[in-house]
Amino acid sequence: MILAANFKANHTRESTASYLEALNLFLDAYQTSCDVRVFPAISSLFRDDLYSHIKLGAQNFYPAVSGAYTGEIGAQQLGEFGVKSVLIGHSERRVTLKETQEFIAKKFAFAKENGWEIIYCIGEPKDVRDNGFEAVMEYLWSEFDGVDIDYDRFCVAYEPIWAIGTGVSAKALDIAQVLDALKSRLHSTALLYGGSVNAENLSSIISLTSCGGALIGNAALDAANFCKLIQIAQNVQK
Ligand code: PGA
Repeated sequence: MILAANFKANHTRESTASYLEALNLFLDAYQTSCDVRVFPAISSLFRDDLYSHIKLGAQNFYPAVSGAYTGEIGAQQLGEFGVKSVLIGHSERRVTLKETQEFIAKKFAFAKENGWEIIYCIGEPKDVRDNGFEAVMEYLWSEFDGVDIDYDRFCVAYEPIWAIGTGVSAKALDIAQVLDALKSRLHSTALLYGGSVNAENLSSIISLTSCGGALIGNAALDAANFCKLIQIAQNVQK
């Protein structure tokens, strides 16, 4: 079971350090089989060999080792922090930052070339959801264009855009339907859910047969809350 915290543009370097220290201390004492990950802001990255129980990853990168990419960060810079895990395809990058499917596929190929673990995000907007399940699946499969789904170091986070940061998660039944359909082609790839996951809905979501974890934004911004979510996940028997 993967539980990943996505900080987005939240926390400073100082507050991230305190957060990681608190989380690692908690995990020292609390035995969990959960695979705990944190994706801090790039400016708040730390080497994850400092933390025995947490894997740190990057929310973003430019698909190049280094070079003339003003404002971007390449593999050389991520390498300084030992980063081996990345988020790709988050809807905030697709929609707000205007990343195209072609560029996202390029980032995927670059991450694969480097052997990085990828949490690959997909999710439909509200108008597509309103057109029903078939329309949703067609949209979601199009978000795999150019992506090597046979890569063995990636997992998928299904995050309906309308559920992200809104306080309204998708219904467990709808999540199950999508994850089961994804499973039919993605076989052994772990499937996560993201979008307003919190202490109230986490256990019903991760209890779903095809659900292998969660990608969490708001509810994971506070270390104590994230620890609570880890405890809830640990108590879910699969
Ligand atoms: P949220 O964000 O939990 O705040 O909805 C999830 C995400 O964007 O990954």
